[in-house]
Amino acid sequence: MTKHDNLIDGKWVGADGYKENRNPSNLQDVVGLYAQGTADDVDKAVAAAQTAAPGWAAATPQARHNLLEAVGRKLAERSQEFGRLLSREEGKTLAEGIGETMRAAQVFKFFAGEALRLTGDLQASVRPDIDVEVTREPVGVVGLITPWNFPIAIPAWKAAPALAYGNCVVLKPADLTPACAHVIAELLDESGCPPGVFNLVMGRGSEVGEAIVTHPGIDAISFTGSVATGSHIAEVCGKMKRKCQLEMGGKNPMVVLDDADLDTAVSACLNGTFFSTGQRCTASSRLIVEAGIHDAFVERLSDDMRALKVGDALDPETQIGPVVDEKQLASNLSYVELAHSEGAEVIGGERLNRDTDGFFQAPALFLGTKNAMRINREEIFGPCGSVIKVADVEEAIAVANDTEFGLSAGICTQSLKSAREFKRRAQAGMVMVNLPTAGVDFHVPFGGRKGSSYGPREQGRYAAEFYTTVKTAYVFAG
Ligand code: UN1
Repeated sequence: MTKHDNLIDGKWVGADGYKENRNPSNLQDVVGLYAQGTADDVDKAVAAAQTAAPGWAAATPQARHNLLEAVGRKLAERSQEFGRLLSREEGKTLAEGIGETMRAAQVFKFFAGEALRLTGDLQASVRPDIDVEVTREPVGVVGLITPWNFPIAIPAWKAAPALAYGNCVVLKPADLTPACAHVIAELLDESGCPPGVFNLVMGRGSEVGEAIVTHPGIDAISFTGSVATGSHIAEVCGKMKRKCQLEMGGKNPMVVLDDADLDTAVSACLNGTFFSTGQRCTASSRLIVEAGIHDAFVERLSDDMRALKVGDALDPETQIGPVVDEKQLASNLSYVELAHSEGAEVIGGERLNRDTDGFFQAPALFLGTKNAMRINREEIFGPCGSVIKVADVEEAIAVANDTEFGLSAGICTQSLKSAREFKRRAQAGMVMVNLPTAGVDFHVPFGGRKGSSYGPREQGRYAAEFYTTVKTAYVFAG
């Protein structure tokens, strides 16, 4: 079985322990053995990054462009292979795995372009004979902590802008899904990334993640994951007066109004709620449906949901892959139980057996629910959606906003007036009209409000807010 090591200071470094990375569609299939790093590895990676930082900050835009472009090109060229690896380690379908790999490729190519477009402002001073120059400099050494549910896209959309804007990186991928981040490290290494500029330390959050979060040599932290870990990181970063960017949970509303096109609404909800096994922080988990369309919508959505093919992620027929691991499956099943006990009518949601030993679960729809129920307050992160019936658009908007989260919010309607009203009043970082709440472009800002996010946006040109720091220079030419 191949052992996969950490990348520290341009060298592949072994570890005392290696963890088996198992395929959630088939537990007999071991994807590989991945090094379990330690706090000592983090120390070495941070030291290497600090040493490399001045050189990388001074590297030409062309050098940074060339590196990112090469990684983007290789990801695209080998998207079938890496997409398959992704599906084996995380369990999303092969089409989703290949699609996500292509997204990572596009992210690298986008930021290869951004490396060439570094700009600043020249402003007139209020005083005579003085010029004011506003420029952006790298933040320094950034710690990136990424989740298991987008194992290649999220490392890409944090690492690519970090490197494009001249920072050095210490990346810790989710312990469950290190293989895709390892691919990114391999491609950066073989494409000429200077030693220490990009470091990969795999391992447990409690050891490696915590060592990154508390390390005095790290200048900024970008994290995607749970609310509990995000809140801890915010506290530590607050104390250390260090920049942080946090992407956490969601409980995203999808409003369906009476005047919606039924096909559009059902397909947006089917995709947003169940695809990627519901394991997206942008998933549509609260379907807020106006009374007039409610029965027709529920009938069509539950029929289409029951027809979804759940199975091995690598089977081309499969539409819904397995849940990522045993713990997540147990949590999902406990929410199905909770839905029963809170008085919802439950369709589906049971554990399924397939030819292989894996974590398969039927998608679940909870009907007749109220927004105050725990199933509508807490993020489930599985293939489960609730339907909440409302009287009119006013109630729909009020219910949509009645949540501690604010990542993405959707509406299905043919009324320009209602869509406009919703766009303006939704308390969310992203609004989707006649589209699923999940599934975003790679070149525009991503992020939320309220309990979902903290700090500057990710992706697109907005990523510069986090990965650079502004300098205002005054020059007297008198
Ligand atoms: C998407 O919906 O296309 O962890 C992306 C997540 C998000 C990414 C969602 N940070 O689910």
